Amino acid sequence: MAANSASKMVTSSNLVVCTSLLLMMLFFEVTLCSVTYDKKSLIINGQRKILFSGSIHYPRSTPEMWEDLIQKAKDGGLDVIDTYVFWNGHEPTPGNYNFEGRYDLVRFVKLVQKAGLYMHLRIGPFVCAEWNFGGLPVWLKYVPGISFRTDNAPFKVAMQTFTTKIVQMMKNERLFESQGGPIILSQIENEYGAESHDFGAAGHAYLTWAAKMAVGLNTGVPWVMCKQDDAPDPIINTCNGFYCDYFSPNNRETKPTLWTEAWTGWFSDFGGPVPHRPVQDLAFAVARFVQKGGSFTNYYMYHGGTNFGRTAGGPFITTSYDYDAPIDEYGLLRQPKYDHLKELHKAIKSSERAILSADPEFISLGTYEQAHVFSSRTGGCAAFLANYHINGSATVTFRKKRYNLPPWSISILPDCKNVAFNTALVGSKTSLINMLPTNVNRLRWQTFSEDVSSVDIESKMINSGLLDQLSVTRDTSDYLWYTTSVVINPSELHGNGVPTLTVNSEGHALHVFINGGLAGSAYGNEETRSVSFTGNANLQAGMNKIQLLSVAIGLQNNGPHFELWKTGVLGPVVLHGVGHVSRDLSHYKWSYQVGMKGEYRNLASPMGVSSVDWTEGSLSGQQHRPLTWYKAYFNAPQGVEPLAIDMKSMGKGQVWINGQSIGRYWTAHAKGSCTPCNYAGTFRPTKCQTRCGEPTQRWYHVPRSWLKPTQNLIVVFEETGGDASMISVMKRTIR
Ligand code: GAL
Repeated sequence: MAANSASKMVTSSNLVVCTSLLLMMLFFEVTLCSVTYDKKSLIINGQRKILFSGSIHYPRSTPEMWEDLIQKAKDGGLDVIDTYVFWNGHEPTPGNYNFEGRYDLVRFVKLVQKAGLYMHLRIGPFVCAEWNFGGLPVWLKYVPGISFRTDNAPFKVAMQTFTTKIVQMMKNERLFESQGGPIILSQIENEYGAESHDFGAAGHAYLTWAAKMAVGLNTGVPWVMCKQDDAPDPIINTCNGFYCDYFSPNNRETKPTLWTEAWTGWFSDFGGPVPHRPVQDLAFAVARFVQKGGSFTNYYMYHGGTNFGRTAGGPFITTSYDYDAPIDEYGLLRQPKYDHLKELHKAIKSSERAILSADPEFISLGTYEQAHVFSSRTGGCAAFLANYHINGSATVTFRKKRYNLPPWSISILPDCKNVAFNTALVGSKTSLINMLPTNVNRLRWQTFSEDVSSVDIESKMINSGLLDQLSVTRDTSDYLWYTTSVVINPSELHGNGVPTLTVNSEGHALHVFINGGLAGSAYGNEETRSVSFTGNANLQAGMNKIQLLSVAIGLQNNGPHFELWKTGVLGPVVLHGVGHVSRDLSHYKWSYQVGMKGEYRNLASPMGVSSVDWTEGSLSGQQHRPLTWYKAYFNAPQGVEPLAIDMKSMGKGQVWINGQSIGRYWTAHAKGSCTPCNYAGTFRPTKCQTRCGEPTQRWYHVPRSWLKPTQNLIVVFEETGGDASMISVMKRTIR
């Protein structure tokens, strides 16, 4: 009976095979559903495997996009989907969990299972990932006595509670491969190696504890720790990087060589250029890894997606997390990257038996030319012919045949005779991206301005001296107002030139208001997060109000004790040119107000949008008006193409559609000069860039599923000033 129903379930999918075996074996009280490993590879249900995997982070797209992304990954030749688990998305306040919508982890894993793919679940729960606070909840910082990622009891208790919860959730749904589910691998911690050495004995104790805690959860599948060369057994140390052919795990004789992050491109920062990685170089790196015996490659990212809301970490990470991945931010195939990797996977899969049955034999074919040959009686023969010269092609002789090898390339010969693939020879065309206009432009905007003069009146918190921003906001908003007043005698205003104000902040952006008017703004950047402002102070005799609006642009997401990094105005704040001496305002009484009025009135949501009086009428002359909210309604553009909102005419702020946050926008121009991405001729390994001299990010993804056919509410909060009349929605097409 069991065998009968099982045989009906057998499809091409390995997972279903395992489920059916499990059913059959239950009869004999044996299970074949298992993941183990040896020095060659992971072993799934008794079989060694070469696996290709791709990172798709579930909250970086919408549930409506997931199935298509996973299918595209499968069609691209992937076997595994990899994701981090995002603790701060799942537990926004202590004990209150969120597994809905974009955070519906079980649904995501089940879609991977439905597609017949495996899953690598990188629980962390520290994840880095250019994600706010590296994935750890901000409330965790305020647990008494806590210290992150070290031998600290409050941290370990919290980490164990969350990790156990996730593992139990997966077990309850039978999602581990040992239960017939798709999860073949899990990760604990993330790139802790460097820190564990810095933290000395405490680091080592924590690492050992984390490993034991994870293994003790009895998932029945292996755990990895990436970039952890002393990962305790049975945990596998794995590689992250642009190239991993130099990598060898500890206990090489018993552990396979796994690459958990093969970087397909890179992330971008507001004000920086957009990085790219030519697929020829990526394919070369992967072939190099496999020829040296690597058996698991995860592309980080395969689909990067979008940092919706305030999920971007950094600081300064853009809302787009496109990453130059094989599937672009919008879910469209990026060519030739996608197809070229697909061909690479095919060639390696045709060589799989040979690779997994023998150790590679190295043969030098010249100064820059090499062969790696996998040959055995049982597995047949496969060869990799490499040319490491960055711009000279070569002709080599291998087994009496001549082969031409383009520069910086590897040819794969699944039968040791015929070339199935060369990493530098790209067959498919480059995709042409078009952003086309839709009916959504020249909207009828209404405006609402923040009343700067009433900020301190509404504030309930006063302190002598300057406070760290996070300790006041607890990250409930990007914005914190610091307000103080200064009394000036008429005599002090004369004879010393124009008074100036200097403000020093730990970051990330600052807008300075003096007596209600914007005196200027200053911004940190990826290299220097702190901000220093000096500007003329338009003071009057009598009382003067100084208001500093400090803006966070994503919290630090890595580094030793990143939880201790400060944000906001910590001073000194000094007035010069008033009277005879400079006046240090740092120790004055400051009142604190978290967030914009529009935020606590919930203006961005359909529920709260009517809670203020909006002004209708022409926007002309308003381009330079700071701290302004804009709202309009629009009908969804026809068609199925992905949509983006063009914010080129605006400055910096946030945008929402139907109450869903599209994310932060900022049209800061990319500084520096870009290394061009032309692969041919002069070879550019790894990274090259685009968008120098233009806004790093101009278009912001609007998921189709967030739109209704008519009457969609768009709300924009602009910090410094912009021309909202030019905002439009575009369709993204790719040819
Ligand atoms: C790695 C890290 C990832 C991500 C990546 C850069 O070092 O493990 O989480 O931050 O760098 O995109």
